[in-house]
Amino acid sequence: MGEEKNLEQMNDLVALCKRRGFIFQSSEIYGGFGSCWDYGPLGIQLKTNVRDSWWKAMTYRDDIEGLDASILMHPEVWKASGHVDNFSDPLVDCKSCKSRFRADQIDTEAPCPSCKAERQFTSPREFNLMFQTRAGPVEDSASKLYLRPETAQGIFTNFQNVQQTMRKKLPFGIAQVGKAFRNEITPGHFIFRTREFEQMEMQYFIRPGDQKAAMDQWKEERLDWHLGQGLRQEKLRFHEHGPNELAHYADKAFDIEYEFPIGWQEVEGIHSRTDFDLKQHEKHCKKNLHYVDQGDGNKKYLPYVLETSVGLDRHLLSLLCDAYRIDHVGTKEERTVLKLAKTMAPIKAAVMPLMKKAPLEEKAQKLLKDIQKHFRTEYDVSGSIGKRYRRQDEIGTPFCLTVDYESLEDGAVTVRDRDSMAQERVALDKALAYLRERLP
Ligand code: GAP
Repeated sequence: MGEEKNLEQMNDLVALCKRRGFIFQSSEIYGGFGSCWDYGPLGIQLKTNVRDSWWKAMTYRDDIEGLDASILMHPEVWKASGHVDNFSDPLVDCKSCKSRFRADQIDTEAPCPSCKAERQFTSPREFNLMFQTRAGPVEDSASKLYLRPETAQGIFTNFQNVQQTMRKKLPFGIAQVGKAFRNEITPGHFIFRTREFEQMEMQYFIRPGDQKAAMDQWKEERLDWHLGQGLRQEKLRFHEHGPNELAHYADKAFDIEYEFPIGWQEVEGIHSRTDFDLKQHEKHCKKNLHYVDQGDGNKKYLPYVLETSVGLDRHLLSLLCDAYRIDHVGTKEERTVLKLAKTMAPIKAAVMPLMKKAPLEEKAQKLLKDIQKHFRTEYDVSGSIGKRYRRQDEIGTPFCLTVDYESLEDGAVTVRDRDSMAQERVALDKALAYLRERLP
């Protein structure tokens, strides 16, 4: 197979994602809409696989419950959470070309990165990242709403509902997956930073004082989850937030970072949020949100919170970057292959009759029907077999099953392994069992 190369340029991945139906530019027929992306047939299957894997890791256990809160919430929520006052980036404008930049991302003493004019920047202004919208037909201040910039607040506002209906005792968690919106000033790098994205968040409610143990536990659990997704260990690391990096709600935080082609970047935040959010909500909604600890003499207190928050799109990008390899078929020909974990691959198997001939297609169709009920399977009959293999390699299909003329004689198919490209003959009536043994 020769030497293997990794992804070096994000553009190569963007091209593959478009070419193979993973991710398209939003509103493409209108020339595209900045920093918004649409998941195509293979992209949404990959996304579903990731979401399911997270959901399973988080909720198929005793101590965590699921939730799906609405995106639009009472506007007071965002005053209480601190997002109205604190969720902002410092912005500067170039006085010459009017381009906008985050003051913390450029050197304001240097020329404008866009038009090269010298020291032409306005002084920094705080720019709130929340999208505003309105509810109902009347445009008054009472109808003003925000699109949620994090899913977490739906969990805090439902803390008591979940705790009481599910009779939970501390420590316990609430997990949620859903869209979040941020009017990012500098979105970019494909699906890395967008204005609309999906978060997978979990708030773990703990006794005050248990922050360190909870942080240690969740750092380990979350890193294991990323590794279980097939990411290479050397591409993952923790980064502890310094005092200037901490979000307004956190007293300690670690990021899980992945080494993208654009460098080491955060994919998941693990935050110790103390009782900040519940305390703020108590104050603003004027209701008692205290927990009664029956295990500790009915002591009443506000639980502390350890949060894990991973961007579904950003994590998916890490999977694609990690899986993207270029190696060789034989001595000369290069191939691009997505070495996704089998659990994540959107299509698990491809059935291919060698040629478009009735007896071959008949056998192949029967095989397809057998397998399709259990695994997402593609049927491909067009083009040379080499071209069909290249397509399956590029979409990360672990197994290709080819029905050839010999199959008509011996009732067997050639099964080709994506990574090793090794081929073996398997009896048609054993093909499903073969896949079952090898696919999770
Ligand atoms: N509730 C905590 C919270 O929202 P965050 O660090 O701001 O924390 C958590 O965001 C995760 O959400 C990030 O690690 C990242 O994966 C993802 N994320 C944040 N902003 C994003 C954006 N503009 N585009 C894509 N993903 C984003």
